[in-house]
Amino acid sequence: MANAAWRLARRSCPSYLQVLHMNRTAMRASQKDFENAMNQVKLLKKDPGNEVKLKLYALYKQATEGPCNMPKPGVFDLINKAKWDAWNTLGSLPKETARQNYVDLASSLSSSLESSSQVEPGTDRKSTGYETLMVTSEDGITKITLNRPAKKNAINVEMYHEIMRALKAASKDDSSITVLTGNGDYYSSGNDLTNFTDIPPGGVEEKAKNSAILLREFVGCFIDFPKPLIAMVNGPAVGISVTILGLFDAVYASDRATFHTPFSHLGQSPEGCSSYTFLKIMGPAKATEMLVFGKKLTAGEACAQGLVTEVFPDSTFQKEVWTRLKAFAKLPPNAMRISKEVIRNREKEKLHAVNAEECSVLQERWLSDECMNAVVNFLSRKSKL
Ligand code: COA
Repeated sequence: MANAAWRLARRSCPSYLQVLHMNRTAMRASQKDFENAMNQVKLLKKDPGNEVKLKLYALYKQATEGPCNMPKPGVFDLINKAKWDAWNTLGSLPKETARQNYVDLASSLSSSLESSSQVEPGTDRKSTGYETLMVTSEDGITKITLNRPAKKNAINVEMYHEIMRALKAASKDDSSITVLTGNGDYYSSGNDLTNFTDIPPGGVEEKAKNSAILLREFVGCFIDFPKPLIAMVNGPAVGISVTILGLFDAVYASDRATFHTPFSHLGQSPEGCSSYTFLKIMGPAKATEMLVFGKKLTAGEACAQGLVTEVFPDSTFQKEVWTRLKAFAKLPPNAMRISKEVIRNREKEKLHAVNAEECSVLQERWLSDECMNAVVNFLSRKSKL
């Protein structure tokens, strides 16, 4: 949509913020919910990390005292300054919304910590310091497991950052290959649609701009990853978890997996370089079916179209794939790395250019009424507003 027409269309509708606010107000958390959430936080068995604690602190202060009007602590008073910054960032967020956000955050913390007990035990080296991932290194293989099974491994902002951090660490560790997989019944349900509700003081435009920067950096990490990168698609995959598969070196799927990119349904457009890789992999007709019409592929169909390397029965998926990966990990690591470079390097510049273009188109799409309505519909259906 041309810019002028788009602005006109937006003026005639309630703004995204207004819609979010209207819905949130309708669903506001009670004082009792708030108190229960505070108890939930006290009972957490695992430290949620400083970033989350600051967020909880800020929401608590905003919910109980309103906007921050304390004098800014001095630059050397690091702890109080961090707390002040976190609170001040909430601007004029209404007390009720802050209370609701606190309740949502406390409940997501409880469910993600409960769910971490579902992760397979018996790993050689386990990296700590991740809230949304399990990262292990064993037998020359670094395994990154998306670990928000209660949310179908939806990728929230924290998970985007943690995946980038895990990939950067894996690119430098002593493993030969890196594997990405999901914990629970899903591989990933794609972008966490509640990401759209965390609106900064600069409004939805700033949110869209920041999200485009984050997405570009995220996809860039996959383009530049230097070692063989393998996806173990243990269940259904949606959105960005599908589109970036074109940047992996092998994709092994359970026969329970499906591959779905409902961008048009969400008023959005393709990312993860899929507008380029999918056309190369499966040709324009099949790529269009997926990326424009949102056709969901079975694992068998995705394999026939070249997106998936091989499909395994779900009952033997883990065993068969791990046997294979362990054999790959014994191959000379430098030879694998150099072969990957030879295969991929001439495409890198093109892929970065495609990534930049896709992110800039998406930045506009995220502000469109089509996208906003689709997200609000999903969140209202799930009572997240
Ligand atoms: N963003 C945010 N939350 C998500 C999510 C997503 N992408 N996918 C799943 N969730 C949450 C649900 O809101 C629900 O949360 P709740 O338990 O607090 O209500 C929880 O994960 C379980 O999902 P649910 O919808 O109850 O499971 P389901 O089996 O009925 O459906 C999906 C699973 C993935 C089909 C459905 O959740 C969905 O359509 N998600 C959106 C997928 C999407 O559009 N992704 C973006 C692509 S660009």
